[in-house]
Amino acid sequence: MSPSLLNFVSSRYRHEVKFTPYVRPPIMDHDRKNMMLKRPMSPHLTVYAPTIPAMTSIAQRATGAVLTFYAFSLAIGSLFLSNGVETYVSMIQSLNLGYFSILIVKLILGFPFAYHYFNAMRYIIWNTGRMLDIKIVYQTAKQAALAAVVLTVLFALI
Ligand code: HEM
Repeated sequence: MSPSLLNFVSSRYRHEVKFTPYVRPPIMDHDRKNMMLKRPMSPHLTVYAPTIPAMTSIAQRATGAVLTFYAFSLAIGSLFLSNGVETYVSMIQSLNLGYFSILIVKLILGFPFAYHYFNAMRYIIWNTGRMLDIKIVYQTAKQAALAAVVLTVLFALI
């Protein structure tokens, strides 16, 4: 290529390289970025069918929370209420609540105890590697719930 032609070409088709200063992308945590991009939450809870093993697991934790509340109430009561249990029992009796009202309160208070206890047996047995067959998992879920209902009713009738 002749020098004049080279000059012509290079003047016409000169590559211009533009430099733009580096701008650091905004620091955004994973959840905020997902929200901004309207991505679904992961794991996406609604894709899971509410199976019995999942429900019993949630129920075990929920009843555990109720029992924790009972235990705290008893502990705080024993610290700050100076009278004996009999005082409070007679206070409740003086309210003259009907038999059925008391029965219902007993059922509501007692069920978390009974359910947590019987359902716990499943977890304890699973921890030894037994009864993990899915059919048995479903069977024992129902048996634990039934046993809890029976025990609650028996205790409430006392
Ligand atoms: C007042 C008595 C009790 C309280 C306050 C209590 C509390 C709790 C709580 C809060 C949980 C949920 C833990 C979690 O999900 O991270 C739990 C789970 C459990 N509890 Fe209890 N509990 C009590 C009695 C019992 C008893 C008597 C048993 C055994 C017969 C038992 C066996 C279990 C088992 C096996 C679990 C499930 C653990 C797992 O998820 O692997 N609990 N309990």
